[in-house]
Amino acid sequence: MALSCSASMGVWPENATKRKLYSKLREALRIRESIPMLVAYRQGRQFFRYNHAMAKFFALIPAAGSGSRMGNELPKQYLPLAGRPMIYHALRTLCGSPRIAGVFVVLAPGDSEWSRYDWSEFSGKLMVFDCGGAARAESILNGLKAAPGATSIGDDDWVLVHDAARPCLSAAQLDKLMDELADDAVGGLLAVPVADTLKRSDASSRVECTESREGLWQAQTPQMFRYKLLVDALSRVGGAAMTDDAGAVEALGLHPRLVLSDTRNLKVTYPQDLALAELILQERKPQ
Ligand code: CTP
Ligand code: MG
Repeated sequence: MALSCSASMGVWPENATKRKLYSKLREALRIRESIPMLVAYRQGRQFFRYNHAMAKFFALIPAAGSGSRMGNELPKQYLPLAGRPMIYHALRTLCGSPRIAGVFVVLAPGDSEWSRYDWSEFSGKLMVFDCGGAARAESILNGLKAAPGATSIGDDDWVLVHDAARPCLSAAQLDKLMDELADDAVGGLLAVPVADTLKRSDASSRVECTESREGLWQAQTPQMFRYKLLVDALSRVGGAAMTDDAGAVEALGLHPRLVLSDTRNLKVTYPQDLALAELILQERKPQ
């Protein structure tokens, strides 16, 4: 349930008219901002007060990978991009959102790069854990388990998992994700419909057939799920096999929602992706 709505004096009204009014009131309160709200409502002689608190939003950046496909000794989250280490850009967008209460960064144990930079501009929201695991899902699960020791995070709060390797996430894409999923029962992810024609190859790289791209999407991050659901899902699937969080949630039999994004939110995987990411970030800079 998207709302956490509890009656401080209350009881579910005993007659049908009051019940209808109560339901309308609850419906009217389906606001999207993450501010707790105290509502007073007078009906006849009875005085109901409802503490209507929306779930909070947190973000988690797994940054414990080595960037093996990038082929650089420096893990890719620290490669220079538009004058900053790559992870800075995702941090700036996530910490810059007034709707996000806190941002967790999960580093590899023994990471010696993080401390070389000044992160003080994010100090109001940033929480750093050095408990990364052997696979992405493991890093995320370890970070989620460490989070309650650093801040108050509830089972129903949202966690937006975002790869350090997607530096071009825009504030508009982030807002769209939160807007579209804030009332969702499952959660979901940014994604783009597949644009290219898809070919299936045989063992010698010859086309075996053309696949329909109908209904196919490319998953991006952030992927946004309730804290407890994500912990449960990732605990069940175990680390290695899952390359995204939605996959772990799908394995529970749930159907995360796809929120339309665009290809500018690219993942930097290979050296040639860096130049493209740089162009996207330069284009966005205020004149
Ligand atoms: N990640 C992580 N812990 C791991 C592996 C990956 O926290 N054990 C993080 C990466 O740092 C990155 C995100 O998960 O922010 C997405 O992973 P990917 O793009 O695959 O990065 P790497 O695993 O570092 O790169 P590669 O697969 O080329 O080695
Ligand atoms: Mg990887």
